[in-house]
Amino acid sequence: MPNELETYLKRHRERIETALEARLPAEDRLHPAPLGAAMRYAVLGSGKRLRPILVLAGCEAVGGDIDQALAPAVAVECIHAYSLVHDDLPALDNDDLRRGRATTHRAFDEATAILAGDALQTLAFQSIADEEALAEAVRLRMVRLLARSVGTDGMVGGQALDLAQEDRASDVAALQRTHRLKTGALLQTSVELGALAGGATPESREALASYGGHIGLAFQIVDDILDISGDTQSLGKTAGADAAHHKATYPALLGMEESQRMGRTELDRALACLESLGPEADPLRDLACYVVERNH
Ligand code: IPE
Ligand code: IPE
Ligand code: MG
Ligand code: MG
Ligand code: MG
Repeated sequence: MPNELETYLKRHRERIETALEARLPAEDRLHPAPLGAAMRYAVLGSGKRLRPILVLAGCEAVGGDIDQALAPAVAVECIHAYSLVHDDLPALDNDDLRRGRATTHRAFDEATAILAGDALQTLAFQSIADEEALAEAVRLRMVRLLARSVGTDGMVGGQALDLAQEDRASDVAALQRTHRLKTGALLQTSVELGALAGGATPESREALASYGGHIGLAFQIVDDILDISGDTQSLGKTAGADAAHHKATYPALLGMEESQRMGRTELDRALACLESLGPEADPLRDLACYVVERNH
């Protein structure tokens, strides 16, 4: 990874983690127990923070001030953490390991994990709704955008399709739709939320939305590839879980090489969407490469 990107990621992760810490139930006020502790456990720890970084980078790309983007950045990471907690439950992917440690339902119990996910979801919307640094009309637009990318037309709908496709032959069109919904929608919305926070023109907002759509799909293609080529230690989650659960994935359907080629095609498309933007969009360009070239 280029040094510049590494420094950028570190700096932004620190901002995001401080903002998350400030909005989660405080360490000394974990009432009712163990809900608050489970929420902290699910969110804090070793996540890449890609979605909130995309919010900040989207804001910077349109010349905005990242202080305006912290509330939506917190929101997307809370939604993401909630989606991971529920994704790992026995009724869904039944995983024991996440971010290098026991999944939330293993560290606590299933009921607590379900409730912690529920509470993280509402905390996400609250983070935006409460943000006085943003005009009320902007907050409302953000809430609408986020709600859409999480519900039946977004992550939750995609998770339902993912489960329905287990043990079933799928085609690329169906798989692409699942991936766009379960993972792509929230990544795309992250970039768009940043654009909104930064006061983007309709043209640059459109460009960033298209960019987000391509990296969103690329991200899940690469996640599928890493499930095969990665190891449990570096992934921090169980390698080989997709094959064990007979999941419909890009490599299962098309093979590794073709999947890698499709990931790179989405990267090229994402970069092309940023052509009208200047050097302020360089972090987004670097992040697109990182999405495709990462090893965990
Ligand atoms: C994993 O997301 C779940 C998917 C949507 C594929 P990440 O790979 O971004 O997970 P963390 O946040 O870094 O743990
Ligand atoms: C998860 O996809 C998408 C979510 C909405 C969480 P996966 O099931 O492939 O994610 P991992 O591999 O468990 O992180
Ligand atoms: Mg899953
Ligand atoms: Mg999973
Ligand atoms: Mg996966």
